[in-house]
Amino acid sequence: MPERLDYQERLAAERDVFAEQVDVHGNLPESAHRWARRHLLPKLRELGVPSLDSLVVDTIRAAAEDSAREVVVLSLGSGNGDLELGWLRALAAHGVHNVRVRLLEINSAMQRRAADAAREHGLSGRVEHIEADFNTWCADAEHDVVVAYQVLHHVLDLEHLYGQVRDSLRPDGTFVVHDMIGRNGHRRWPEAHEVIDRIWATLPPELRRNAITGEVDEHFADIDCAADGFEGIRSQDVLPVLLDYLHPSVFLAAGNVVDPFVDRVYGHNFDMSDEHHRALIDDIGALDDTLVDLGVVTPTRLTALFHPRPATLRAYRNRTPERSVRRTDVVDSTGRVSFHPGTADPHGLVRGAGLAVGRLNGVHHDRWVGRTATVPLRTTAAVDRVEFDLYVPEWMPTVGTLAVALDGEPVGCLHAGHGATRHGLDLRVPARRTAELTLSAGWWAVPREVGVGADRRHLSYVLNGITLGAEQG
Ligand SMILES: C[S@@+](CC[C@H](N)C(=O)[O-])C[C@H]1O[C@@H](n2cnc3c(N)ncnc32)[C@H](O)[C@@H]1O
Repeated sequence: MPERLDYQERLAAERDVFAEQVDVHGNLPESAHRWARRHLLPKLRELGVPSLDSLVVDTIRAAAEDSAREVVVLSLGSGNGDLELGWLRALAAHGVHNVRVRLLEINSAMQRRAADAAREHGLSGRVEHIEADFNTWCADAEHDVVVAYQVLHHVLDLEHLYGQVRDSLRPDGTFVVHDMIGRNGHRRWPEAHEVIDRIWATLPPELRRNAITGEVDEHFADIDCAADGFEGIRSQDVLPVLLDYLHPSVFLAAGNVVDPFVDRVYGHNFDMSDEHHRALIDDIGALDDTLVDLGVVTPTRLTALFHPRPATLRAYRNRTPERSVRRTDVVDSTGRVSFHPGTADPHGLVRGAGLAVGRLNGVHHDRWVGRTATVPLRTTAAVDRVEFDLYVPEWMPTVGTLAVALDGEPVGCLHAGHGATRHGLDLRVPARRTAELTLSAGWWAVPREVGVGADRRHLSYVLNGITLGAEQG
């Protein structure tokens, strides 16, 4: 876990976002529903699952019909509880009543809404509320079924949570997952970005309007949703880490380059009563399927069942769990599919005797750095010194030290000041070594809070460059 303060700030942001959300899945564009109908549901049906709801309901039903006792279902990050109450009602319609649902949710406003709705539907006796943080929660009961519905991409300590899920599941139990598994912060991997940029260049301005800023985006804005709260905080780890803990049976992974065209930022630009817009969404959906099937891009969404014991795998065609993981530990020999230095480090921030071989986490598109930046790099020659070029504007209330670590080990501290400054640090890294540099700033400010513009981000400094100095002789 990162240091406590950052965690608490993110948690507060997360609570703020959801406290007012009465309809968590509301405001999804029509293009998203069309894509799901045409590109997601048919694949699920091919796996013998009629719908998303039935994936959950039939799993619980099978456990309940097999048992004379009360079957216990745990829903992680259950929000307002509307899905869960829907499952209970659907089960009741099938004459299944021996089910109790435990709602694990950190947001008390949402728990209250869930409790009110349960009362209204006469289901209070079947619902239990657990107000807890799933990053630290310890299982206190056996579960027949655990459900994670659009929630794993909010989890920081996946290893802890998966451990609790595995250990609390009955041996024949099921973990139902419907979630996002793409790059952290719901950003694009370079290979997908490349395709989206090409589509972008063909779009008229009205299809490039950004719902957050109201502006027409000349270039696709690859927003980092994990900059503040927990949205997509470790989404790229959701699947690979899960495979270390549990065994899949039904497995459907889908979606990637279609995402920006069906999301809340740009998706509403596409009018599904317009035949051209419909055709465009369908074409991008078909292209996306082809790219996923060919292995050019890896899926960003997962709908699957997992179990404590090995199970027979029923994956959609060649989209196996292994092929659905976006590897980050290999550099493709052609330089295409994996890290392309140009797209991994679009500002060319890493210079000298090495290059960036992955996403510079924490460095925003305008080179502002939040609190912590991580820079995965590979040296091309032996390095003995690193220079950091920073800029801290005068309006920043305080400036302090910048702690530097290499592969998690502290290697030094820089004392930053206002203005454009250069700081050197003696640091030895052998040639052709992949390593991760972490920069943690001891100061930050939110411009809006200090009366400088409307920017709500936590910002520390502008990163102008990291120069790796090659050892002489
Ligand atoms: C995208 S919503 C999904 C809600 C619900 N599963 C649904 O699909 O309607 C994510 C949920 O996770 C909850 N959450 C976020 N961080 C949490 C944490 N650390 N512990 C427990 N719940 C958390 C949020 O409050 C929110 O209700």
